[in-house]
Amino acid sequence: MNSNRLSKTIETALNTQMTKEAYASQIYLSYAAWASMNGYAGTAKFLFKHAREEQNHMMKMLKYILQRGAKVVVTVIPAPPEHPISINNCFEKVFEHEVDNTKSIYQISKLSHEQEDWATWNFMQWFIQEQVEEETFAMDLLDKMKIAGGEQMSRNALYTFDRDMGKID
Ligand code: FEO
Repeated sequence: MNSNRLSKTIETALNTQMTKEAYASQIYLSYAAWASMNGYAGTAKFLFKHAREEQNHMMKMLKYILQRGAKVVVTVIPAPPEHPISINNCFEKVFEHEVDNTKSIYQISKLSHEQEDWATWNFMQWFIQEQVEEETFAMDLLDKMKIAGGEQMSRNALYTFDRDMGKID
C-alpha cells in the first residue's frame, strides 16, 4: 500500500525548498560572520539569529514531508554568494535573496493549487506570510539606510544603525 500523500512533483518541490531554506541559513550565517569581522556586532547578532530562523524553516519543511508519508532527500547545500561590500549592500543582498525565495514558495503554492493538494497549499500559506514579513523588514531597513545616506552613510549613522540592530529581539 502506498501511504505517500504527496505527488512526485510536490515531493520534489518541497525537498528542493527544504534545501533552499538551508541555503538561506548559510547566506545569513556568512553575512553575519562578515558583519562580525567588520565590527558590526549588532548586525551580526541579528543575522546569526536569522540564520537559526532559516534552519527552523528547513526543519518545518522536512517535518511536513515526513508527516505526509513522503521521502526526505537531504542533499548538498550550495555555497552562499560573496560577502557584502557594505552594510547597505548586505541588506540589498538579503532583500534580493528573500524576493527570490518568495518566487519559489509561490511556485509550490501554485503547483499544490493546480494539483488540488489542499494540505500542501494550506501548509505553504505560512511560508507566504513569513515571506511578506521578511521582505517588509528588509525593505524597512533599506529605507532607513537610504534616509541615513545609503552607501554614503556617515560613521555616526552606521554606529547608530548597528547599535539599533543589536536591540532587535
Ligand atoms: Fe525561510 Fe527567509 O525565508
